[in-house]
Amino acid sequence: MTRPPSGMRKGLANYGDSGFSLFLRKAFIKAMGYTDDALDRPIVGITDTFSGYNACHRSVPELIEAIKRGVMLAGGLPVPFPIVSIHEAFSHPTSMFLRNLMAMDAEEMIRAQPMDSVVLIGGCDKTVPALLMAAASVDRPAILEVTGPMITGSYRGDRLGACTDCRRFWAMHRAGEVGEAEIDAIGDKLAPGPGTCMVMGTASTMALTAEALGMMLPGGGATPAVNADRLRHAEVTGARAVALAIEGLKPSDIMTADAFDNALRVLQAIGGSTNGLVHLAAIAGRLGIDLDYDAFNRIGAETPVLVDLKPSGRGYMEDLDKAGGLAPVLRELAPMLATDCRTASGRTLGEDLAAAAPPWPQDVVRPLTDPVYPHSGMRVLNGNLAPNGALIKQAAATPALLKHTGRAVVFSDLADLAARIDAPDLDVTADDVLVLRNAGPKGAPGMPEAGYIPIPKKLAADGVKDMVRISDARMSGTAFGTIVLHISPEAAIGGPLALVEDGDRIALDADAGTIELLVDESILADRRAAWRPPAHPESERGYLRLYLDQVLQAEDGCDFDFLRKVPRRERIT
Ligand code: FES
Repeated sequence: MTRPPSGMRKGLANYGDSGFSLFLRKAFIKAMGYTDDALDRPIVGITDTFSGYNACHRSVPELIEAIKRGVMLAGGLPVPFPIVSIHEAFSHPTSMFLRNLMAMDAEEMIRAQPMDSVVLIGGCDKTVPALLMAAASVDRPAILEVTGPMITGSYRGDRLGACTDCRRFWAMHRAGEVGEAEIDAIGDKLAPGPGTCMVMGTASTMALTAEALGMMLPGGGATPAVNADRLRHAEVTGARAVALAIEGLKPSDIMTADAFDNALRVLQAIGGSTNGLVHLAAIAGRLGIDLDYDAFNRIGAETPVLVDLKPSGRGYMEDLDKAGGLAPVLRELAPMLATDCRTASGRTLGEDLAAAAPPWPQDVVRPLTDPVYPHSGMRVLNGNLAPNGALIKQAAATPALLKHTGRAVVFSDLADLAARIDAPDLDVTADDVLVLRNAGPKGAPGMPEAGYIPIPKKLAADGVKDMVRISDARMSGTAFGTIVLHISPEAAIGGPLALVEDGDRIALDADAGTIELLVDESILADRRAAWRPPAHPESERGYLRLYLDQVLQAEDGCDFDFLRKVPRRERIT
């Protein structure tokens, strides 16, 4: 039996003469100074996601050195290669718009270039999902290393961090409680160094769920970016990548349906970001796995929030690291987990957990008997306003608003929101429901994190801190409030959200899992007949054209249909 090509013989450029292709490849790679001995080793690719625009990836060069050291100690040849890097604050129109581009870049570069395994370096919100989507599609041995969270900053004795406190202070600024000079001074302290947002935002959520999925070695989810432990984890990851190259353990062997159930349970237990559900759906879709949202709600009903981190709780990621990282969470959940899932370590999740350091007294990861929040951190909603689903993060909401009926105050798109939200004559009270539409995957485009609709200035000045807010947008995992997100189908493709008018009554009942528009169906039918889709004047060419043609709704992870293992073209309207 002929063995599949490995190392430099893998995926030769096509000149019609494979001998010449290999000769040419070796001639060029030797310009890098490699010996034949080096070139005969297992080759470990390393995605270089450093960028001068990506502060969350500031430590990537150092991580690459540690990973290279691990690869060489294990007898492999490390080869870093650049791919797209995305930072939340430097991505127009949104980072979500670009996530699939990064996934395509990573997928094709891993497939095109000779490597026997690959270390994926992610960190900032969209980079981990993009890399795991790519790894799932290529299905070549792969292992994740994350940059790790930032440590916290301090402002006049107040411990603070990105970006829950960014929003807290900005809300105070809008309410007139924090002046111009002070908000600038606070801005100097919110992101004090390398690494990802240090609350339970999307980056932390994806790091921990990726560890639970089995794609990262144990202990990698919570270690701060600046800690020496992070570099040691990277070195061991590099060494493990060589073993993966030899063993041939693939992402599809690790990311099974049971592994996704484990990740969804961890998502609930950590009080994770709502974005986590979208990204896990996208990764699963690359493997032909559909997440079951009824099962997600069932998992949520049995899984309280255990991790006491902002925005649902009090602490920051460095506190979780000091409490033992993900291990105490997994230990608490173990009876409900599929512990026989394989992980990138080569062992099972249960064996990884047995090998973890023993527990010690701590108060960041709470026991099931004394949780931070008694049930589902988040819940998928249904109803006539969201036939394909919507999502609410109950753990970060105001309990009294979780069952609420109010009058709709509608903003037709982001520009309308910006123009009118603070208008002194806006007809709005604290009991109303703020509605934002045309901010979904296609509508914005790029499904911005605009679901955290600001409290109108005149209400904020009166001390109003929260209102029911609903949209087809996403929300940063660092945000908080009674906010219904990801309404699907979105308004821009004619979902019921497009039909809501000022003054309509909207009923939210999070316990019952419903979001309803209390308007007669005959009236909605008339509005539906009169509805016209919004125009996208710049959509005739380029990536935007591809994006608008292909992007799916939130329940399919906003992936491109043609990148899923099983496309669902028929669901695009
Ligand atoms: Fe990169 Fe928050 S902006 S993780």
